[in-house]
Amino acid sequence: MHLPLFNTTHAYNKLKEHAKTAATWQMRDLFAAEPNRFHHLSVSAAGLFLDYSKNRLNSDTVSCLIDLARACQVEEKRDTMFNGGKINNTEHRAVLHTALRAPQNDTVSFEGQNMMPEIHAVLAKVEAFTRRIHSGEWTGYTGKRITDVINIGIGGSDLGPRMVCQALRPYHHSDIRVHFVSNVDGHDLDAVFEQIQPETSLFIIASKTFTTLETMLNAHTARNWFLQSGNAADLPQHFIAISTHAEAVSAFGIHLDNMFPFWDWVGGRYSVWSAIGLPIALAVGYDYFAQFLAGAYAMDTHFRHAALEINMPVLLALVGIWNRNFLDYASISIAPYLQDLRDFPSYLQQLEMESNGKRITKAGTPVTWHTSPVIWGNVGTNGQHAYFQLLHQGTDITPIDFITALKPSHTLPGHHAALLANCFAQSEALMLGKTADEVHADLKAQNMAPDEIAFQIPHRTFPGNRPTNTILMNSLRPESLGALLALYEHKTFIQGAIWDVNSFDQWGVELGKILAKTIQEELEGKTSHHHDSSTAGLIKMARAALK
Ligand code: F6P
Repeated sequence: MHLPLFNTTHAYNKLKEHAKTAATWQMRDLFAAEPNRFHHLSVSAAGLFLDYSKNRLNSDTVSCLIDLARACQVEEKRDTMFNGGKINNTEHRAVLHTALRAPQNDTVSFEGQNMMPEIHAVLAKVEAFTRRIHSGEWTGYTGKRITDVINIGIGGSDLGPRMVCQALRPYHHSDIRVHFVSNVDGHDLDAVFEQIQPETSLFIIASKTFTTLETMLNAHTARNWFLQSGNAADLPQHFIAISTHAEAVSAFGIHLDNMFPFWDWVGGRYSVWSAIGLPIALAVGYDYFAQFLAGAYAMDTHFRHAALEINMPVLLALVGIWNRNFLDYASISIAPYLQDLRDFPSYLQQLEMESNGKRITKAGTPVTWHTSPVIWGNVGTNGQHAYFQLLHQGTDITPIDFITALKPSHTLPGHHAALLANCFAQSEALMLGKTADEVHADLKAQNMAPDEIAFQIPHRTFPGNRPTNTILMNSLRPESLGALLALYEHKTFIQGAIWDVNSFDQWGVELGKILAKTIQEELEGKTSHHHDSSTAGLIKMARAALK
């Protein structure tokens, strides 16, 4: 029988006790007492460096957390995932996105078949198509080269490729612009129509299921827009599909030669490594896309084989478990100090919150512990001038992941040192804080009157002791980006394994979808249903406005 283990383990009870002591620790004292704390509480893997020393923990905490991971069978569950076990138990599916970035000569068996030839056949199709677009062999209906690629998709069929295309901006092919349209709000598509011409545009309809309302409406609108200039016979040169659902693709009118398939064992939010990554290959060229896959594979290899004590995804996940379940911090802020990673927080929101935003164990009973924290954030240094006030002095403690690169991808003097200085200063300030005595000394040195100093001290004191991780890469390259995404994917997997939830389904998004369909019919005057007075009132106002 399947038993949830998390809060029944010896390690959990030990950590609960330990947390009572840890709650009294000041990190500035821990650093003062342990000169080697940075070296002991940091780890390197796959071109990334993780410093987790600025957390309210010590080496006993870490070894107890590792015991917890072992007791929750993280290693066994990891091996089951990599070996194609059907760990998505509500949809009875395997979870094999890691196979998508494995080298061709690997063997990944699924239901008795080695999947690698099929995976690499699709990658070969992505590569060949990319070369045809870049060389100008594939043209639009007037014979002109394709200059604009428009990816129409949402969720996992948008956030991954959109974020990666942005992150790899310095690698972009100069003749191709890639646009992303996700929102059912017509303003999204309309803004792209203003920038493109039908004869030089290629629309990618990206949808695992090929049924998602937003994507299908945008796809139909794009086709109608195209048909105002081109003919139906020209559509194959301008519309291609990425999906697991060949029938629905055909029904939409896209020839299966122009469909790039993937498989139901690839979750939407884990699909950037599949044909869903085609816009990335078109933006930067196939070779860089292959390097992106190789970076993820390097992190996979580390995750599979490194001891838990030096395993970066395991340590990142366990620090998160410590902060969430033992210190009770309800959210995590993601702070990329790299402008080109500005969409990384949105990408992580889907990855972590859609995966582990669950309240039921794999066996179907309510959890009695917290699962995914809220993930939010924005790029540094911009966030410093918006919400960092709350992070330093607010009543809630929010752990932060700082992510940056030691070297810039530009040559502008002075900027990168300023960026890194701010990144490191924030984590230092959040950890150290500023005591009343320090504030007093500062204000006295400014010759402030004693009464005014006494008044100012509480406002200018920082409690500090606020937890942060810092993730460094040498520079933001395709490999390091691949490793970074795989790091967070595995972090998410490990936390789901410890919380005993199914990280690979997303039933919670279904109810809103069903109600939206009903309400849309009502807005169009086709049906009428009973609603609460708030919803009924809003529908009435919208119907009057849409008439
Ligand atoms: O509604 C949530 C969701 O199913 C996500 O999990 C998925 O990434 C997104 O919708 C888009 O789905 P599809 O690729 O099938 O259009």
